[in-house]
Amino acid sequence: MSRTKVSVRALEPDDLDPVIRIDERLTGQTRKDYWKKRFELTTLRPPWMSLVAELDQRIVGFLFGWTSESEFGIHGPTAWIDLIGVDPPYRGRGVGQALVEQFVHSAQELRAVEKVFTLIDLAQADIREFFMKLGFKHGPMIQLEREVTG
Ligand SMILES: CC(C)(COP(=O)(O)OP(=O)(O)OC[C@H]1O[C@@H](n2cnc3c(N)ncnc32)[C@H](O)[C@@H]1OP(=O)(O)O)[C@@H](O)C(=O)NCCC(=O)NCCS
Repeated sequence: MSRTKVSVRALEPDDLDPVIRIDERLTGQTRKDYWKKRFELTTLRPPWMSLVAELDQRIVGFLFGWTSESEFGIHGPTAWIDLIGVDPPYRGRGVGQALVEQFVHSAQELRAVEKVFTLIDLAQADIREFFMKLGFKHGPMIQLEREVTG
């Protein structure tokens, strides 16, 4: 299948409904309030940097991320991908790759970012494989967490 027709652009407020629909297919949940709040934050930029991918004149994927300076003790500007999703019928056609490549390119061009980070659940082997295919490697940091008890 051709990979040339994927186009990627910055997220716009009108993309709310298609993003909600793709998220429903990915998670099995309808999270209108979550996405409304997320859009209110995300359409203010920078540091938010979020993208949608279009194929067949419809939105088929999204990537939400941000850039920052010296976060978590990492020196210099960095960029973080925190959510990526491709509509299931459109997977395997280079949509996810196009989103990540555009994110990396924009982070470099607009914010002089030299490294892009993401956090994945090691139980999700498919997400790990996807990012490894795109050149991501395991880094030296780990996440620490603590339960909050009443
Ligand atoms: C992971 C995901 C983003 C991949 O999107 P996609 O558009 O199908 O990926 P692409 O077609 O751009 O694939 C890019 C490369 O990754 C590889 N890849 C994609 N999905 C893969 C998988 N599940 N397992 C192994 N490799 C995979 C492809 O083979 C391709 O490599 P190639 O060029 O050598 O063939 C998509 O499957 C998805 O949305 N998954 C659910 C996301 C999710 O759970 N998000 C929440 C956490 S952020």
